[in-house]
Amino acid sequence: MIGIFDSGIGGLTVARAVKQTLPRRDIIYLGDTARTPYGNKTAKTVVKYALENTEFLMRQGAKIIVMACNTASSVAFEAVREEFDAPVFEVISPAVEAALEASRKGAIGVIGTRATIRSGVYEKMIKARLPDAGVHSAPCPLLVPLVEEGWLKKPETAMIVKKYLHPLKTRQIDTLILGCTHYPVLKDLIQRKIGKRVRVIDSAESSARSIARTLEENPDLAARLGKNGTLRVCVSDLTEQFKKTARGLLKMNVSFETV
Ligand code: DGL
Repeated sequence: MIGIFDSGIGGLTVARAVKQTLPRRDIIYLGDTARTPYGNKTAKTVVKYALENTEFLMRQGAKIIVMACNTASSVAFEAVREEFDAPVFEVISPAVEAALEASRKGAIGVIGTRATIRSGVYEKMIKARLPDAGVHSAPCPLLVPLVEEGWLKKPETAMIVKKYLHPLKTRQIDTLILGCTHYPVLKDLIQRKIGKRVRVIDSAESSARSIARTLEENPDLAARLGKNGTLRVCVSDLTEQFKKTARGLLKMNVSFETV
């Protein structure tokens, strides 16, 4: 089984991309809805939650772990990798790879939660590969609650996205990384507001491709994963809003387990 976790609903964009890329693989998803959001918590707290989430997924039989949360990936990746004897994937390096490939002049924008942007992880990774890159980051804390509320087509959301993107637009970025698992849901709107010449990088799709590549390169690992195409969605607190948004995101009639 592929174990995927997020602070809540956003990581389902990664689960959806993994399902599309690897339709026959068994997936277990954990949304830590009782403790969401992670994006405005301290690194210490996010590390603790990430370790607990991973332990749960491993107990359920996950053989690889996907941290489908940029905030957890930014601050807890090393801790999770050291603690557990399983391959652990984060969602940051695949997005960085895709951005470096897409960018023509190395002017790269990154949007994410406060904790992700504060960690500086995207900037460090991009500069390690391309020291001359201009990296311009902007925290967008209001976008997570707007997605959770399903305010995808509201004019207020469009206004907020425009305001957040304005400083990146003036820097003339040519590539924009969606550094939060909620943002792919707003991808069309973000693309409209940043302009069609900017390549928008969705970390969900690039992460799914990187997992698929790793499995191709490691047949032993691939052989340990189930192949019935099942998807279990577990949450630490189940609300009607979660069910509605999750079904809309997955475009599947999944059932949910409270754990
Ligand atoms: N999943 C988080 C991320 O990708 C966003 C939601 C949260 O703040 O917990 O950063």
